[in-house]
Amino acid sequence: MTIRNKLASLFFVLLGLIFILVICLITTLYLQRQYFLYYVDIQKSLTLLESIIQNVSFQRLYFDYYILFNDEKDKENFTAISDRIKNLYDEYKKSNEGKNLFLKYQAMTEVANRVFDESKRERKVSIAMTEFLPKYEIVLTELENQRQKHNEEKMKLERTVTLLTIVSWVISIAVILVACFIIVTFGVRIYRSLTRSLRVIIDFAHTLSRGEYRNIFYSTDDEFAEVISVFNYMVQNLKTLQAQIIQMDRLSNIGQLAGGIAHELNNPLVGVLGQAQILLEKLPADSPLREHVEKIERAARRCKENVSKLLQFSRQKEYEYTEVDMNELIKNVLFIADSELKAHDIQVITMFSNDLPMLSLSIPHMQQALLNIVNNAIQAMSENTNKRILYIKTYTVTSEENNKLSKYIAVEFQDTGCGIEKQNLTSVFEPFFTTKDRNKFAGMGLAITKDIILHHKGKISVFSEGINKGAKFAIYLPCHEDK
Ligand SMILES: Nc1ncnc2c1ncn2[C@@H]1O[C@H](COP(=O)(O)OP(=O)(O)O)[C@@H](O)[C@H]1O
Ligand SMILES: [Mg+2]
Repeated sequence: MTIRNKLASLFFVLLGLIFILVICLITTLYLQRQYFLYYVDIQKSLTLLESIIQNVSFQRLYFDYYILFNDEKDKENFTAISDRIKNLYDEYKKSNEGKNLFLKYQAMTEVANRVFDESKRERKVSIAMTEFLPKYEIVLTELENQRQKHNEEKMKLERTVTLLTIVSWVISIAVILVACFIIVTFGVRIYRSLTRSLRVIIDFAHTLSRGEYRNIFYSTDDEFAEVISVFNYMVQNLKTLQAQIIQMDRLSNIGQLAGGIAHELNNPLVGVLGQAQILLEKLPADSPLREHVEKIERAARRCKENVSKLLQFSRQKEYEYTEVDMNELIKNVLFIADSELKAHDIQVITMFSNDLPMLSLSIPHMQQALLNIVNNAIQAMSENTNKRILYIKTYTVTSEENNKLSKYIAVEFQDTGCGIEKQNLTSVFEPFFTTKDRNKFAGMGLAITKDIILHHKGKISVFSEGINKGAKFAIYLPCHEDK
């Protein structure tokens, strides 16, 4: 699992837990509000009921006084309280079902009214004892029962609210604990995998800095896998590059040696050539020795030419521009590659333009650039069983750039080799790009060639129709331009 995915899952898990926490809090708050409204309702009913009980008790008191002293004042008080109780019942009924209770109370007050209307005292006492008092007891018992019921409801509600608060606290604490646990375990795991992979890479980077080219053998399924594979690729490239540098160093030493030998050879050769020419001048035209001396002179001249080509190639390293005939420069390159071309049985067909203008070039660099292309062509054709031909063509072209006509010398190398896959056409000039054996080839040839061409303010392009269709490299070098 990649680090990015790990962090994303951690983020989403935490988001989910926060969501649960919020839902839990909102539900708790909502339920608490509902219970609170219900509680207020019950409390109100209870207060009303207690008020009714109190007033009914007062009524009983006034009724008793009335029976005892027959005072009209007590009767008035009784009736006034009846009105108050009626109002309280109306209020109580709004919030509760107290209809039956009120009917029973009404029956009680009706009996009381009958007592008030009765003229005979004995009769009053009799109705009070036989009818009023039982009804009063019933009303009071019912009221007490109702109060009891409300009290129970209130207690039940209080218990539920307490339970709800406890449950919501428990859930919240549990969610927070789970979140902390996940953060700690996931965080520690991510931190560990990060530091472990980093440690490995740092160690190997130190090893590399000491010049030991060792690959990292460490498997991980996160982003570090890519870092490690790039690191190993880099190590591989450095290894090949080092081998190439050693090889180049050896070649350059040999080149220097060859330069020295060529220099040493040059003076005696001048002597041989000079003496042969003197001999030719002195020998009579019909001398039989003339043919042998002519052979000596031709051989010495060829040796001198080759020695001077070697000298030119082994000398300078800095860019020093001199006027050059491009066709001649290509011939020199072919001379250097001659033995390789012959060894691989490659035929070279040149189509040189006769009116090429002279170019200002750094000879060894340009030779190096063209030699890389020729070497690649040789390697591309070395597997071929069919015809092996390298076509080299030079010509001049004119192109319009920035509303200005510019003249270029074009050099094309077309081979009949293995060709280049379409998707590789853009990569061949990149440093370290190679499709060959990495132990032998560093993929630097064309990168160096391109660099040299750019130094000469030129351009290079590649064409290929695909596998086994050959390849063509075209170089365009500007004429009459300050380098
Ligand atoms: N003439 C050619 N024909 C086919 N492929 C070529 C040719 N020249 C270059 N290439 C491709 O370009 C790659 C890069 O070439 P180069 O930079 O010289 O590196 P190297 O020769 O070390 O591989 C080669 O590996 C090869 O795949
Ligand atoms: Mg090459």
